Amino acid sequence: MAATEITKLQAAPRVNLYEEVSGRILRLIDNGVYKIGDRIPSVRALSQQLSVSISTVTEAYRLMEDQGRIEARPQSGYYVRPYLAHLPEPATSQPIVEPTPVGNGELVMRVMRDTADPRLLQLGAAIPNPELLPLGKLSRSMTAVLRKDKNLGSTYDAPLGCEPLRVQIARRALGAGCTLTPDQVLTTVGGAEALNLCLQVVCRPGDTIAIESPMFYGILQTIESLGLKALEIPTHPRDGISLEALRYALDQNDVRACLVIPNFSNPLGSCMPDENKKALAELAAERGIPLIEDDVYGELYFGHERPKVIRAFDKTGNVLLCSSFSKTVAPGYRVGWVAAGRFQAQVEYLKFVRNVSTPVPTQMAVAAFLESGGYDHHLRRIRRTYAKQVALMAQAVARYFPEGTKVTRPQGGYVIWVEMPAHVDSIELYRVALHSGVTIAPGPIFSARGKYRNFVRLNAAFWSDKVKDAIKNLGRLAAEMKK
Ligand SMILES: Cc1ncc(COP(=O)(O)O)c(C=O)c1O
Repeated sequence: MAATEITKLQAAPRVNLYEEVSGRILRLIDNGVYKIGDRIPSVRALSQQLSVSISTVTEAYRLMEDQGRIEARPQSGYYVRPYLAHLPEPATSQPIVEPTPVGNGELVMRVMRDTADPRLLQLGAAIPNPELLPLGKLSRSMTAVLRKDKNLGSTYDAPLGCEPLRVQIARRALGAGCTLTPDQVLTTVGGAEALNLCLQVVCRPGDTIAIESPMFYGILQTIESLGLKALEIPTHPRDGISLEALRYALDQNDVRACLVIPNFSNPLGSCMPDENKKALAELAAERGIPLIEDDVYGELYFGHERPKVIRAFDKTGNVLLCSSFSKTVAPGYRVGWVAAGRFQAQVEYLKFVRNVSTPVPTQMAVAAFLESGGYDHHLRRIRRTYAKQVALMAQAVARYFPEGTKVTRPQGGYVIWVEMPAHVDSIELYRVALHSGVTIAPGPIFSARGKYRNFVRLNAAFWSDKVKDAIKNLGRLAAEMKK
């Protein structure tokens, strides 16, 4: 970056000189001189350019780091971070808090069929970007495990699943604040089966389950398929489920279980603060309500630390923790897992009755990939890319969608939740977008009652000029909808 763009500050010392320095750099960032991912001048270079002390620049950079605008990368310098705080965000959701069967199955299946169509630009499905998956390494791991054990897959495995994978899962759980032993983990066919097993173990048909709202449609349809009722709870777009609303709902209703996605929920991208996670674990234990926790996006955090799982605050085995490698390694391998706490024996029995065990070769390939040590490096790379793309997509939505549009500020994962003006019908938008070769996920599939008619979920795992044009086109189509 040209030194000429940062003119020298007046030499006279001021009380808040560092704020002035940070203000200058922020203006350059906001004007696009430095874009997301660009390196800004080093502390030394800037101190020379502005004729201020090293400590003033250091202080200015610390301020910008605290504000989430830049990040320090070891031995490399300071970089511009994705930033969304200036965009208006949706309010806490206000669903009708009454138990209800889940509708919309037909619409969900229609959307699902379109997401398998390779001719369409997939902004609807929450699929990871294949270019950001370690597919080459994974297939080498698969070859290696098949070569090492010629009999791999020649017999039935025990329901718990392959031990080398369960060891790796137990090791990684430490990073999420919880101690698991390999025999507390059971492997599953994706996170979907883990959730399905848990719901089936803790509920009976006709029971009510409290969930955050909006909620991932796959979970809603699982609730429906098991003959359960959903109790949708108001949810904050950044902090997740409202504990106050949940407490009140538990007082008013006979609730059998609670299911939440505490880390980077789908579709909100919300992440519950630790104190809320702890309070929720305590509330559920107090009331004797099993808590099913879905952590499939937990590793995709944009901040400095992996957020804890609720299970980390669980003292009674009341939390059934579910996750998978679908979002970070490969969804098609269908490798997931559950640590079901005090329900483990029942989950193990149900797993055996259902399909005996999870296919062995894919589990062993994922285990070998994890053992090889490249996973953390891979995660660092994809987190950075998704953080950048989420910001770019949210900014494009803010720019091209009709006035009054609001967008979430996820701090992890790769989906954004967009609230359009009240008259815009997302199902109609879905239909017209399909004609132009683009899929979106219309809001009503994220609600048991078909709420969120003027919302869409967009997948930011993909970013290119083509995606940007598609966002522009979607914005135009939404703007053309009559009041
Ligand atoms: C929140 C959430 N939970 C669970 C799943 C299912 O995960 P898997 O693909 O591992 O079955 C998904 C997939 O999109 C999801 O978004």
